[in-house]
Amino acid sequence: MAPGPVEELIPSHRTLLGPGPSDVDPRVLRAMSTPILGYLDPEFIQIMDGVAEMLREVFGTADAFTLPVSGTGSAGMEAALANLLEPGDKAVVVENGYFGLRLSEIASRHGAEVITVPVEWGQTASPEAVEAELKKHSNVKLLAAVHAETSTGVLQPLKDLAKLAHDNDALFLADTVTSLGGSPINFDEIDIDFAYSATQKCLGSPPGMAPVAIGHRALEVIKNRKEKPRSWYLDLGLLLQYWAGGTRVYHHTAPMSNIYALRESLRLVLEEGLENRFARHRKNGRALRAGLEALGLKLLVPEDRCTYQMTSVFVPDGIEDAPLRHRLLDEYKIEIGGGLGQFGGKMWRIGLMGESSTAPNVLALLSALETLLPQSGFEVAGGAGVAAASKSLAAD
Ligand SMILES: Cc1ncc(COP(=O)(O)O)c(C=O)c1O
Repeated sequence: MAPGPVEELIPSHRTLLGPGPSDVDPRVLRAMSTPILGYLDPEFIQIMDGVAEMLREVFGTADAFTLPVSGTGSAGMEAALANLLEPGDKAVVVENGYFGLRLSEIASRHGAEVITVPVEWGQTASPEAVEAELKKHSNVKLLAAVHAETSTGVLQPLKDLAKLAHDNDALFLADTVTSLGGSPINFDEIDIDFAYSATQKCLGSPPGMAPVAIGHRALEVIKNRKEKPRSWYLDLGLLLQYWAGGTRVYHHTAPMSNIYALRESLRLVLEEGLENRFARHRKNGRALRAGLEALGLKLLVPEDRCTYQMTSVFVPDGIEDAPLRHRLLDEYKIEIGGGLGQFGGKMWRIGLMGESSTAPNVLALLSALETLLPQSGFEVAGGAGVAAASKSLAAD
């Protein structure tokens, strides 16, 4: 029997408080439903230029090349490594969490000799440990680190690392997937050579694009490669012929709807103002931290090295990770994330990113936890989480 017509898709409404994707503003969703233009339509080229310009502002750079690579954050990561490294090149990678490990894995797949600086999860890398590796190995071409480690919620200071890289004639690559739009990047001031990000976190767009910023030193390296990058799709030399310059050359069909969405989300970011946006992420993140602690839960990362947009909290003893998250999703329509890698089953990851970073979301989650935790056997002082968060919000 022939199957009946498939029903129209109407996904359930969720509040996305996981490690990304985050909630998307209706303006961004509306932008995605506007007409498709050709990939070389002069009107579309103007839209691309506007997006590149707004990305410069958000990355904090006056003149780096910016473009959104087609693909999720991992495409940005792979584009960086495929273009900056050649087989046999040495790369020092700070492994301070799950995404540091991914950097190493991708760099080695592109033929690099990877030297790792292992860091206990939840800690930041010490500049001394990084310097030791840079000094031990001659001719290191690249130092790479994750700015906001989504697996732990640690914010790695970048300034010392960038300086160390340059003092040792290496490039500095920063993963800003979870920081862009939520914490200052200051690409020029920190002197980053290459940063990549993703649209679905603090920028508040759907997943699908990986904004990158390419500084002049990195561009020279890309232009003067001995051999072509092993990825054609992510060849930034080719992509820049489409994204920059007087005459644009087709490379691949740009995902227009995602670019429209990114454009609208960047407009929202700049309308709010970067400083206001960072302050909002800080305020709501602090309130969440205060509320969780008032419930007797243990945070992984102290405030002096935390990202306010991603908070890791230990699953309390006696509580099973997944069933509680499922109840949050089924009964309260709130998504939070589980632990990654070595933290699987042990950690909850709560994101307050972009549009999801609101006081009502903080209070709703804490209120839900105040109901669910005691039902699962973990006693909490009723109302303590919401009260502590409200106090923090009022004080901030
Ligand atoms: C720090 C970091 N880097 C890279 C990635 C990979 O991004 P995507 O999942 O969009 O490919 C993520 C995703 O969560 C991330 O948090």
